[in-house]
Amino acid sequence: MPKVKKVNFALLGLGKLGTGFYKVWDQKRDAIKKETGFELNLKKILVKNIHFKRPGFIDLDLLTTNIDDILDEPSIDVVIDAIGGIEPVFSILKKVIDRGIHIISANRTLLASKMHTISQLVQEKNILLLPETSMGGGVPIISTLRHDLVANNVRAVVGILSGTSNYILSQMTEKRITLKTALKSANLMQMAESLSVIDYEGTDAAQKVAILAAGAFGLRINYLDIPASGISDISLFDIQCADEFGYEIKPLAILKQSTDFFEIHIHPTFVPKGHPITLIKGDQNVYFIQTDLIGEYMIYGRGIGAEAASSLLIRDLVAAGNLTRAHLSRRREYRINWNQKPILPIEDIVSAYYIRFPCIDEPGVVGKITTALGDADINLASAHAEVDKKVHPDLGYVHILIDSAPEHAVINAIRTIEQLKILKGRAKYFRILRS
Ligand SMILES: NC(=O)c1ccc[n+]([C@@H]2O[C@H](COP(=O)([O-])OP(=O)(O)OC[C@H]3O[C@@H](n4cnc5c(N)ncnc54)[C@H](OP(=O)(O)O)[C@@H]3O)[C@@H](O)[C@H]2O)c1
Repeated sequence: MPKVKKVNFALLGLGKLGTGFYKVWDQKRDAIKKETGFELNLKKILVKNIHFKRPGFIDLDLLTTNIDDILDEPSIDVVIDAIGGIEPVFSILKKVIDRGIHIISANRTLLASKMHTISQLVQEKNILLLPETSMGGGVPIISTLRHDLVANNVRAVVGILSGTSNYILSQMTEKRITLKTALKSANLMQMAESLSVIDYEGTDAAQKVAILAAGAFGLRINYLDIPASGISDISLFDIQCADEFGYEIKPLAILKQSTDFFEIHIHPTFVPKGHPITLIKGDQNVYFIQTDLIGEYMIYGRGIGAEAASSLLIRDLVAAGNLTRAHLSRRREYRINWNQKPILPIEDIVSAYYIRFPCIDEPGVVGKITTALGDADINLASAHAEVDKKVHPDLGYVHILIDSAPEHAVINAIRTIEQLKILKGRAKYFRILRS
């Protein structure tokens, strides 16, 4: 058996994550000690209300409401932030950093907006900030990109970071039900139990991708600046149209890197049927990575819940144990090297598109629309008219597929076409995932 080494740590927060982590840690610590030689010793737990009833397996003697009990305990090497929100946690963490204690953070809201500031503070003290759990589930994406794929030029990471949105769209696709019906699913309620809300507008995914962008690529971006849209506007008709043209709609976060710039955006996207990402139907997070050396690489796993997050928390405790014992220079591997490469405004990205125009039902509408698109220098892959006399006797649809065009040209053309008298409402468009 390897020699016993200690990692003495404190847990900030004993809510859903803190309690779930405690349980996993308690069950696994003997096995971890046997496997790694590390004794993971929980020394203190910071809570807000000391009188709250806690599950029977919690050692109540560890609880405190005073952060000084942690700061004044010299044996503590690491804290896990499982409180959440920005204040008072940010102020608490500044004191923790000042004391030279390493931080493992599960706090998505805080890191999505203050990763740069916090990483500067920890760097000044030469301590560690291990941020991966803050992305939610248990998939080790930042460490995969930073360490396992270090020899690769990563061209793109396409991810599903919102398990609930993905589950809803998958249910709509498989059962041909509306968004409203899918939202009532019992499985979804169970899945969303650990979340305050379903990620309806893409905000959670934007927070996660901001952390990914900073942690893995050194991109300094506030999640509020990431163009993000969620699933709130997806209709069953959208799902049917996608299916008819050979696609599934998936809630994707897309992060691309070229020599000169990054692209980062989140939106429901048409994904070709059979693409590996379409295999993921439930509450998993998935990352499809394109690299120069190993080509396409995909990882996925549980994206929700304390058990999945605890997998990363325990991994990070062991990593912190190793790094505190290693030469100080090894901590540099975990520092973020901030990247100066600009982020392309979404209007300037080049993508493939599906556009649907609701039109009056009369000859010549396809010609008018394709002419307007041609005038905007947009090459079409296909144009297709459809009328459903049973549902809307006077309404037709023109479906357009575009292989590649700049976003601003597509949007401008759509706005021009919407002024034509043949239009019966707003157009709807989706970006299409191309490899
Ligand atoms: N839930 C998950 O599965 C999960 C997974 C990954 C990441 N996360 C992240 O982990 C964080 C916590 O999530 P959660 O779901 O566990 O939240 P939660 O259930 O609301 O728990 C929050 C905990 O923080 C404590 N707390 C709140 N304000 C405090 C203060 N001022 N001083 C000391 N303690 C304070 C609360 O103490 P009391 O118990 O005394 O009220 C509670 O124990 C969030 O950032 C979340 O994004 C959660």
